[in-house]
Amino acid sequence: MTSPLDLADLDFQPAELRAMGDAVLERVVAHLASLAEQPSCGDLDAEQLCRSLREPAPEAGSPLEPLLDALFDDYIPRSFTTPGPGYLAYIPGGGVFPAALADLISNTTNRFTGIWQSAPVLLQLEANALDWLREWMGLPSTTRGLFTTGGSMATFNAVACARERLLGAELRPGTVYVSSQAHHSVTKAARLAGIAADRVRTLPVDAAYRLRVDALASAVAADRAAGLRPFLVVSSAGTTNTGAVDPLDEIADYAAREGLWHHVDGAYGAFFQLVPELHATLSGLSRADSLTLDPHKGMFLPYGTGALLVRDGAALRALHSASAGYLPELQEQFYDPSQYGPDLSRDAPGLRVWLTLKLYGTARYRAALSEKHALAVWAAEQLAGVPGVVLDAPPALSLFAFHLEGPGLESLEQQNLATRRLMERVTARGAVMVSGAQVGERYLGRVCVLSFRTRRARLELGLQHLREECARLLAEAAPTGARHA
Ligand SMILES: Cc1ncc(COP(=O)(O)O)c(C=O)c1O
Repeated sequence: MTSPLDLADLDFQPAELRAMGDAVLERVVAHLASLAEQPSCGDLDAEQLCRSLREPAPEAGSPLEPLLDALFDDYIPRSFTTPGPGYLAYIPGGGVFPAALADLISNTTNRFTGIWQSAPVLLQLEANALDWLREWMGLPSTTRGLFTTGGSMATFNAVACARERLLGAELRPGTVYVSSQAHHSVTKAARLAGIAADRVRTLPVDAAYRLRVDALASAVAADRAAGLRPFLVVSSAGTTNTGAVDPLDEIADYAAREGLWHHVDGAYGAFFQLVPELHATLSGLSRADSLTLDPHKGMFLPYGTGALLVRDGAALRALHSASAGYLPELQEQFYDPSQYGPDLSRDAPGLRVWLTLKLYGTARYRAALSEKHALAVWAAEQLAGVPGVVLDAPPALSLFAFHLEGPGLESLEQQNLATRRLMERVTARGAVMVSGAQVGERYLGRVCVLSFRTRRARLELGLQHLREECARLLAEAAPTGARHA
């Protein structure tokens, strides 16, 4: 900058904009190009750094380059490498590049997308994107939806919608049913929506970690007998712990018979509905009263992109509709996000989904998701053949769970410890990051194939590391005699 600084002028000249944009793009491209070499679990030894970074708001600004240096060289690497090919832990997020372009466009053009009148065409694109998701999921045209920051917020809105529709003002008698494997965001959503923890029933699962409908029926009957008002059952189209898909059709039948709202948490798994060979697994998904989606998982978008679809769109509108004297009159012809969700001012999540989907097309999503499923099936088969590995949950979609046992690992406690060590040691090698989950008494190792950058070669390397670390752990655990035999 050559001109003397006018402190009140926050804008930049076109040449400055370009230079700053180029500087960022250069870093981003280099970062993405090196993802495959970065350790999958990142370098999390950052306590000192975190403490040293605490500082008051700067009075004067700094140049961009040193800030980018710090971010890309020091700060960003000290996190899980979630967009990398080796990220098989938790439920991987995405970060496809077109979404970043959409964000740059929406953040710089910065149009107000809270009400239809202020950006009608941009909101039509958002409505289209929501409608595309609706069609993929097989929901009817009465459906309306909402882009949210994630699955948790989608579920929160769904619970509030069901509560409003079925309980009205009488919240206290209302009861909600989830399985022991439901994501913890569901109970949290219930609490936020005014349904206290003592009104949420946690149901047992079957041997495949799926919600037991007989247990649901018993719990509902007991609550009715006690004068309570069962109103909502939440099932999972892919649990976080083991990837289990609840019996969605059976639950839909039961919910319809009993007048319950059936919300399906498809944050992890719903986008696998795009894959024809998984239709049977997800059968019943399209019968949901409401459905949580996480485009930042199954559509590989950057974090901050969730979605909710509600079959009875009028119910979602009834929950959120609001007007103000200073705003234009409400209208019903076009999609108006503030009438379907809690936000007024917000960013443009629809543009992110719209541009990405326009650029890729559905076929590429279908191919990518189909590949992730096939890779998980293949990897689970390979791992099941490794001495000591017991496959507890084969992949229904793209996630499987297992534990380690063998001579010297007879007790549950020993097996849990060994399985935990296995996850830690494989992750420490850097090529892949894997995580486990405590499921009841057992600690399970998990592999979730959902990073769009995970391809066969990286999974082979991950399997090699799993195989080698299993062998090491079994050798360490074996009774001394056996070890020397
Ligand atoms: C099955 C399931 N539901 C809900 C969530 C919460 O979604 P979000 O993290 O987008 O809020 C997750 C997150 O991993 C999940 O796996």
